[in-house]
Amino acid sequence: MAIPKNTLVMQSGGNTAVFNRSLFGVVSEALGSEVPGKVYGAVHGLEGLLADELLDLGTYSAARWKAIARTPGAALGSTRRKLESEDVPAVLRVLSSRGIGQVHVIGGNDSAATGHALHKKAVAAGLPLRVVNVPKTIDNDLVGTDHTPGYGSAARFVALATMGAGRDAEAMGSAAPITVLEVMGRDAGWLAASSALARREERDAPHVICVPEVPVDEQRFAGLMEGAYRQHGFAVAVVAENARGIDGPLGPDAVPWYTDEFGHPYYEGAGHHLAALLGRRLNVRVRYEKPGTIQRSMAACVSTADAREAEMAGRAAVRAALKGETDIMVTLVRSEGDGYGCGTGLAPLAEVADAVREMPPEYLDPDHYGVTESFLDYARPLLGTPLPRFGRV
Ligand code: F6P
Repeated sequence: MAIPKNTLVMQSGGNTAVFNRSLFGVVSEALGSEVPGKVYGAVHGLEGLLADELLDLGTYSAARWKAIARTPGAALGSTRRKLESEDVPAVLRVLSSRGIGQVHVIGGNDSAATGHALHKKAVAAGLPLRVVNVPKTIDNDLVGTDHTPGYGSAARFVALATMGAGRDAEAMGSAAPITVLEVMGRDAGWLAASSALARREERDAPHVICVPEVPVDEQRFAGLMEGAYRQHGFAVAVVAENARGIDGPLGPDAVPWYTDEFGHPYYEGAGHHLAALLGRRLNVRVRYEKPGTIQRSMAACVSTADAREAEMAGRAAVRAALKGETDIMVTLVRSEGDGYGCGTGLAPLAEVADAVREMPPEYLDPDHYGVTESFLDYARPLLGTPLPRFGRV
């Protein structure tokens, strides 16, 4: 059966600063391709698809697309809606009535599950459909890809925020010498680990990094922070939002305050708990800072490499679908040899769906709650242009 010529693109999951750069990549590649069907965008992903709320993305001017491409957030609207079996008839009806043969979900591991399920349901219903996802997440935790679009920019933010918070704590001295910075990264510590790129000298922040892969022994954490404080007069810890204690979630009342449709629990306060612990132990002012959505939406921190690769991944997805690929996700493949380069590959959605790529042991230094040189070598180019150099008197 001939593949219908129209394309559908959806944005799904947590936002990134370059989410729309991938959207731009998909749309411009599809509109410029030799199969000139319509390119639809589902408003809030699956929610819009279910409601047949689709925008004709070919009607916007080139200038509008240029502005969208550099806009943080998700221009189409994102979603955390899971594809349930009762949704399937409505979804297939819309795909068929709109003549859609190519679907691109820009998203992470939950979105890979959605794309994979969509593919299976379409096959079962005899609907010709190609599903090629575009990777996206600030968490950098998708399997099969060297890194993910969105990570480099969030990592750049975290590194710059750590540099700034360190200089602030150092400057305030005894008035406010300790800062605990809590960053996102649901199941893996890639983002918290990127703070280590802020450090050029031993005294620079961060002094301790807590990631979900390494359970936090509270007394050892406090000892390391106290040691840094005694040595440098200030100390900064960067804590992943889901850093865990030896016996489970951190804090006395560590119960999730919310669990989403994919079953992800949302905890509040690993960093807050550790900050309170330090305040009690050191009897000094301890700041607890949580940038929240700012870390994934800061236009001033977009990594040049990340923006370029986000668009490249979007374009590659369209080309793969036109070649007949389906049930797959575009991956980023780091070039061999000297210097940083990046191309694209493909990974089956079934392998990416619901899986988490944690930081490997060779990137972690659990004895010091830190990271290794090989992690720094891995992450540095992803942040784009070099970080600024700061000075001291
Ligand atoms: O999509 C990943 C992510 O950005 C995680 O880092 C974070 O745990 C989660 O989203 C936050 O979700 P929400 O935006 O729904 O609060």
